[in-house]
Amino acid sequence: MQDVLRNLLQYGELSFRDFMEVALYHPQFGYYATRENPVGRSGDYVTAPVLSPAFSFAIGRLVREFVRRAEGAMCSIVDIGCGDGGLIRAIAAEIDAPHARFFGVDRALGRVHDEHARVTFLNTLDQVPRDGMHVILSNELFDAFPFARLMQRGEHLHELWVGERGGTLDWVEREAPGPYEHYFAERGIELAEGQFADVSLEWEAYYADVAHFVRQGMIVTFDYGFPQQKLFHPRARRFGTAAAYAGQRVSRDLLANAGEQDLTAHINFTDLERAGEREGATTLFFDRLAPFLLGVGIAEHPLFTPVHELSVSNAEQGMALMEAREDARRLVLPDGIGEELRVLVQGKGIAMEGWSFQSPLIP
Ligand SMILES: C[S@@+](CC[C@H](N)C(=O)[O-])C[C@H]1O[C@@H](n2cnc3c(N)ncnc32)[C@H](O)[C@@H]1O
Repeated sequence: MQDVLRNLLQYGELSFRDFMEVALYHPQFGYYATRENPVGRSGDYVTAPVLSPAFSFAIGRLVREFVRRAEGAMCSIVDIGCGDGGLIRAIAAEIDAPHARFFGVDRALGRVHDEHARVTFLNTLDQVPRDGMHVILSNELFDAFPFARLMQRGEHLHELWVGERGGTLDWVEREAPGPYEHYFAERGIELAEGQFADVSLEWEAYYADVAHFVRQGMIVTFDYGFPQQKLFHPRARRFGTAAAYAGQRVSRDLLANAGEQDLTAHINFTDLERAGEREGATTLFFDRLAPFLLGVGIAEHPLFTPVHELSVSNAEQGMALMEAREDARRLVLPDGIGEELRVLVQGKGIAMEGWSFQSPLIP
């Protein structure tokens, strides 16, 4: 990776967006090409499907609800940015309807994708058959898209680039190109003097492609992010949201250890919502993960069985069970991932009401 970057920098500086594209997705040395498994307790960060099997169980219930309401139409269940494929495999294992088929899509396939009888693994969404109905799932896909680091300097919007000084990578500031100026102007957002903002133009473009692809179905997006007024709030997010993850630690040193740490930024959910609406989709739900999971019935999972109904045969088993229960609860407790991760559900050509996650009983 060091050689790759040095070679590229010989020809000129790189925008941070392009640096990130290389650092994460270089086919040979990029973070997602080389890591055996970046997600998990022994990896760099933990995602909801890896944290607890209760997550896949809950999404499985949603998929079952969708398939039941499809009344025999062919349903393709797709997980985009599926990583090691754990979520889509677990869902496929729970649903045995003959008219349901399962796909895992990831641009960096080839790591952990063994053959699986019921799941087909592909590199891009357009390889998935378009007939019938679709449930398009993604978890932390959009926050893994390469983004630009922008900064307001007086009248001008600047973009951070990456150069080399004395053998080490360093930041360089340049005037931002038109599309980024346009991004904020079009949304009526004014950044404060000195404020940072991390933006990917691909959030909107990619989601538009997904919503266009679906003729009839549901798009369920789990990600870290906010609606735009909150995401670009001049005080709450003065320094943007860019972060690097390695060994379960978060750092702001985005240029360190290129190819060996994950890079991410919170996404603008308003971009996704509007892109979907332009393609004829309607928002069925947008909120935190916790109420969504409670709505689809996560509490039916055995890990939520009341303590007095449990029996364990030895202390070791008891400890493991307590830990697993704690992890499952983190998905729905107010101070955990259940509060931070957000869920956008949009529908196209399907019922707009009566879905379990829209239940008004949920706090
Ligand atoms: C943060 S990981 C999340 C993995 C998994 N969904 C999970 O929750 O554990 C992001 C994944 O999205 C994939 N990805 C990024 N951009 C993509 C794209 N344009 N199309 C398909 N997959 C993509 C990456 O290769 C990576 O596996």
